[in-house]
Amino acid sequence: MVRHFRRDDDISPAEQQQIIDRAIAMKADPYGLTPLAGPKSVALLFDKPSTRTRVSFSVGVAALGGNPLVIQSSESQLGAKESIADTARVLDRMVAAIVWRTFAQSNIDEMAEYSTVPVINSLSDDFHPCQLLADLQTIQEHKGKTAGLTVAFIGDGSSNMANSYLVAGVMAGMHVRVATPTAYPPLAEAHSTAIRISAETGGSVRVTADVAEAAQGADVVVTDTWISMGQEAEKARRTADFAGYAVTADLMSLASPGAIFLHCLPAFRGYEVDADVIDGPQSAVWDAAENRLHAQKALLHFLLTTP
Ligand code: CP
Repeated sequence: MVRHFRRDDDISPAEQQQIIDRAIAMKADPYGLTPLAGPKSVALLFDKPSTRTRVSFSVGVAALGGNPLVIQSSESQLGAKESIADTARVLDRMVAAIVWRTFAQSNIDEMAEYSTVPVINSLSDDFHPCQLLADLQTIQEHKGKTAGLTVAFIGDGSSNMANSYLVAGVMAGMHVRVATPTAYPPLAEAHSTAIRISAETGGSVRVTADVAEAAQGADVVVTDTWISMGQEAEKARRTADFAGYAVTADLMSLASPGAIFLHCLPAFRGYEVDADVIDGPQSAVWDAAENRLHAQKALLHFLLTTP
């Protein structure tokens, strides 16, 4: 049976830990595993801009012995001229996996439905599960563990990063707090899924409008842009709505003294995070950016070798 990674909970909590542990091992031994030797190709489809995802998957596929095939969707037949189903039926004859950055989560789900090779969500409007693997790896590297830690996501609770933190965070046994204006709640299904999973893993979920309540004693403080890709026309309204939800040095002072700060990047200093936080000693954002490479290599190895 082909395994896909459409969203964070397409793997079990035990498999998530296995992938993170392997990512840390592959970071120390970058060329020791070559499941794409041949070379086999991996299609990297982009409907939206990217720096980290494009580079980390391209470098990672090559390091696994494979051939990365970067495709701008706008320059392909996908979309206006050819359906997702037909694209899947063609790509899976030639590539070992399909990685897609797109808008609707339903696009990913449809590609996975028709593909006989693994489909990986490299960001949709609803989830950013590859980023969460890298963030969890970074937390484990800095803190020695993930289970039992408290993570505070500050900002747009309706974003793909907030949804993925809820689901992947509790899968890792973390206590996940989301501070967001009440008009920007997480996806209801992601919220209820996180509550269900937390009962099995010992994690917990709290969604609040109070940033101080969320940050108090947190081991990890996270934010993301207030204007996600595709929301550029809403910049003025969103900037006003999220005033008071910036991660500042004052907010970081409420967190645990050893707390780390994470941001999936790109960051907008002076908006969702102040420069003295992202460029300060508690910031682990560059480690997390690098870990996209290692975590995705471990994910590809898992999907390509797990029966
Ligand atoms: N964090 C992230 O996905 O970065 P890119 O948009 O540059 O790929």
